[in-house]
Amino acid sequence: MRTLLVTGGCGFIGSHFIKGFLKSHSGWKILNLDKLSYCGNRENTRALEGHDRYEFIQADICDQDAVGPAIQKAEAVVHFAAETHVDRSIENAGDFLMTNVFGTRVLLDAARKFQIKRFIHISTDEVYGSISQGSADESAPLHPSSPYSASKAGSDLLALSYWKTYQFPVIITRSSNNFGPHQFPEKVIPLFITNLIEGRKAPLYGDGQNRRDWIYVEDHCAALELVFDKGKEGEIYNLGAGEEISNLELTRLILRQMGLGEDRIHYVPDRLGHDFRYSVNTAKIKALGFKPRWTFPVALTQTLAWYRQHPEWWQPLKRDKFTIK
Ligand SMILES: NC(=O)c1ccc[n+]([C@@H]2O[C@H](COP(=O)([O-])OP(=O)(O)OC[C@H]3O[C@@H](n4cnc5c(N)ncnc54)[C@H](O)[C@@H]3O)[C@@H](O)[C@H]2O)c1
Repeated sequence: MRTLLVTGGCGFIGSHFIKGFLKSHSGWKILNLDKLSYCGNRENTRALEGHDRYEFIQADICDQDAVGPAIQKAEAVVHFAAETHVDRSIENAGDFLMTNVFGTRVLLDAARKFQIKRFIHISTDEVYGSISQGSADESAPLHPSSPYSASKAGSDLLALSYWKTYQFPVIITRSSNNFGPHQFPEKVIPLFITNLIEGRKAPLYGDGQNRRDWIYVEDHCAALELVFDKGKEGEIYNLGAGEEISNLELTRLILRQMGLGEDRIHYVPDRLGHDFRYSVNTAKIKALGFKPRWTFPVALTQTLAWYRQHPEWWQPLKRDKFTIK
């Protein structure tokens, strides 16, 4: 049996990835190393407890004494663990630098020491900054705007330096915005859906004209499996579904799907340093065989239905774990 170490597997994307990977890769076992920060949630992986090819380790990626013995058992790493919410990074960048940069360094060093054969570093399209026209390909310069994206860019560059300096087999993926079940309800789509279910308003930044390219989480995870199986070492892969939409159009679509009117939009002052538009060129992952299965409106309907059906998942999070409103 082969062993893959996943970091941050109790978060939104990591938990989807683990479930899909265990189904499609029957010769592999997964060790999920997660600190269980405010957004790490054992409920996201509850269905896997007791699975004979799944093991959970509660640990911080910054703790090299915990990371070493875990990595030693594995032959590959998929690294999701991160501080991920832009608004929180604007309030306090410290945790972002610690986990996203220093933690990645701890993992890279341990992985190199124990001769890990494949290290997939999960990054974001936000490292390219705002793209006024066209789309960023993988060689585009990095212009991160927020402390979050700056910390991700820092970890990308560090990972790439391990390839260049040590030929350590790193691959980087940069995905566009994800959405789907189990996304922590401070992020825009679950925040709007759950607020509206609660009879509240959707707080829309600025005039709502900022544009994002959305990918359903299952499609992102399918692309990651492709990179895991066929990606080339030392390379970067942009991941996206080509579903670009303004935040206002997104809000209107959610409202329409919920049978609500525009009086439920609450325009709030814009986010500091708010990037206007993200857009990635995905020719490279398409050449590897990636084709998204989900269209945006259908995946949104599916996501909406999940949040309606699972208030027991998100209500406690909004009650106990929200520090940003
Ligand atoms: N959500 C998106 O739209 C998106 C888009 C592109 C890239 N990404 C990247 O994908 C990855 C996962 O994002 P997500 O949305 O699932 O995030 P998330 O916030 O839902 O989950 C992050 C997970 O990492 C864990 N974690 C945080 N700090 C840790 C530490 N120091 N040690 C161990 N575990 C720690 C948390 O407990 C949590 O389980 C991140 O690297 C993020 O930058 C996310």
